[in-house]
Amino acid sequence: MRQTSNIKIEVNEVGTRDGLQIEPTFIPTEDKVALVNLLSRLGYSKIEVTSFTSAQAIPALRDAEAVMKQIDRVPHVTYTALVPNARGAERAIESRVDEFNLVMSVSETHNLTNLRMTREQSALQLEDVLAIGKSNGTPSNVSLSCVFGCPMEGEVALDEVLRRVERFAHAGAIGITLCDTTGMAYPNQVELICRTALERFPGLDFTAHFHDTRGMGLANTLAAIEAGVRYFDMSLGGLGGCPYAPGASGNVATEDVVHMLECMGYRTGIDLEGVLHAAGILEGLVGHELPGQVFRAGPRLKRHAVPADFEEIRARALARQATGVAK
Ligand code: COA
Ligand code: ZN
Repeated sequence: MRQTSNIKIEVNEVGTRDGLQIEPTFIPTEDKVALVNLLSRLGYSKIEVTSFTSAQAIPALRDAEAVMKQIDRVPHVTYTALVPNARGAERAIESRVDEFNLVMSVSETHNLTNLRMTREQSALQLEDVLAIGKSNGTPSNVSLSCVFGCPMEGEVALDEVLRRVERFAHAGAIGITLCDTTGMAYPNQVELICRTALERFPGLDFTAHFHDTRGMGLANTLAAIEAGVRYFDMSLGGLGGCPYAPGASGNVATEDVVHMLECMGYRTGIDLEGVLHAAGILEGLVGHELPGQVFRAGPRLKRHAVPADFEEIRARALARQATGVAK
């Protein structure tokens, strides 16, 4: 495996958007604000705070304006939000988001299900949003859903993905997020798609976004790094999922990814202990167990107490050893 120590991985926390959007209980605004304020001081480069969608579509995030207006703005953290259309863009500008995260699917069926539009309608709308962003000085990233497969259509052609990337690059997007919306990606596919995209569009920042639906999220993360991706979406506690994608489940957990990368010598700049603490707060807010693993198990060098009768065990073993009895 490659030399890792000089490689900085930029972490984008999506727990307060991708994570909370699927939760049945409404988390009070002040709790969302407190959570974002806590996360802001843990070393993230970007936080996707909320989403300016319609309240009927995503009721859990209907307080987007209030949250954006109340959070602290910590220097060097980009505060982004999901923006589905021009109406969302106006709301986001009013709330002073640093960057728009636009979204559409590369699968026609998923796009219709999620956004109630054909891909062509979405693309035209997003071009309008990009133009609104440009005239206001707000950069846009475009998240493409179902890049690695669609839960309703199956395989998605790489050419289709590249055509969408090209169109948004033309329209002025600064970055593209390649989303594995329902955990269909597998490592060598990820490496191929990411490598092709990076080679074809060297001027764009590519982010990878994995859901851990089939346990391949961490492996896919490493495959994307091998391909040259340096920006990653991840979600506190592994919460998340698209409410309009059948079988969707959580994103790769921030603490699991950061823990693995730091063990391997990558630099994330993230305070892992702080993230574990924040995951505990999030678990309390959502009121159910989080799927992340390091949150339960602790970091790999977490020391456990020896059993209460350890000294007896040791004394018996030593006594047997002294008498020359091996067993
Ligand atoms: N913010 C607030 N309200 C919005 C809005 C926005 N960005 N966009 C539309 N609306 C409102 C409209 O005003 C309208 O309200 P009304 O019924 O009171 O008049 C209602 O939503 C329906 O509007 P319409 O233009 O018909 O849009 P739609 O129903 O086709 O919805 C989306 C389009 C994209 C806004 C909506 O489907 C949506 O937000 N989907 C959620 C996508 C998402 O976040 N998925 C998960 C993440 S991948
Ligand atoms: Zn997602």
